Amino acid sequence: MLIAILTLFPEALEPYVGTSILGIAQEKGLATIRLIDFRDFTRDRHRTVDDRPFGGGPGMVLKPEPILDCVEWLERREGPFRRILLTPGGRTFTQGQAREYFREERLLILASRYEGFDERIREELEWDLVSIGDFVLAGGELPALCIAEAVVRLVPGVLGHEQSAEQESFEQRSDPDAVLDHPHYTRPRVWRGREVPDVLLGGNHAAIAAWRLAQSRARTRAARPDLLQRPLPTDLQAAKRRSPSD
Ligand code: ADE
Repeated sequence: MLIAILTLFPEALEPYVGTSILGIAQEKGLATIRLIDFRDFTRDRHRTVDDRPFGGGPGMVLKPEPILDCVEWLERREGPFRRILLTPGGRTFTQGQAREYFREERLLILASRYEGFDERIREELEWDLVSIGDFVLAGGELPALCIAEAVVRLVPGVLGHEQSAEQESFEQRSDPDAVLDHPHYTRPRVWRGREVPDVLLGGNHAAIAAWRLAQSRARTRAARPDLLQRPLPTDLQAAKRRSPSD
């Protein structure tokens, strides 16, 4: 799979893309991450990528020409891409979307800068407008890495252990209310007086699976009741309203 990240700061992304899971995937030939500086597609002496907003207001707006020229150049070379435009005004990224993107052969991620981009960039091409959460960053570089990593780690052979990607938070399980991952333990068996739960030491796989499922459900209920398929019983909803920080 090919992931192209269009950014004004390729040098900031390069070290991360070359290490971690993204680096491993590339070494194994399972993915290619290309960082493309769309400033290289400007045609003026000052290499201008942004300008003041029509109608006034603070900040600068990304100009349409360099970005569209860059996308068109890339697609002429490689073929069409599934395109993602990063903006806090987009749909919140989920594990389900990561799974959808992982099926694409070519993914293009445009790291916009906040204050924003000229609306005609959005109009001219088909984009998924994607946000990574309800907060505002200075630009789409970190969101681009988040998405690239969430997608690439799903490619078979990237993670050491093939089951790992299936068994963790947000992945489909037998129980729809067990959305968050269960706790994990490793050696030592006792650390600062804290013991690993007995059930994990006994080798009874059915008992271990049942314990993990119960833990997943309890964690989901406590931390993310909004993810439950069934609504909380009304008494629990009332308790939540009384202590919303739980
Ligand atoms: N650019 C700035 N903030 C962002 C966010 N939360 N998600 C995606 N892109 C962004």
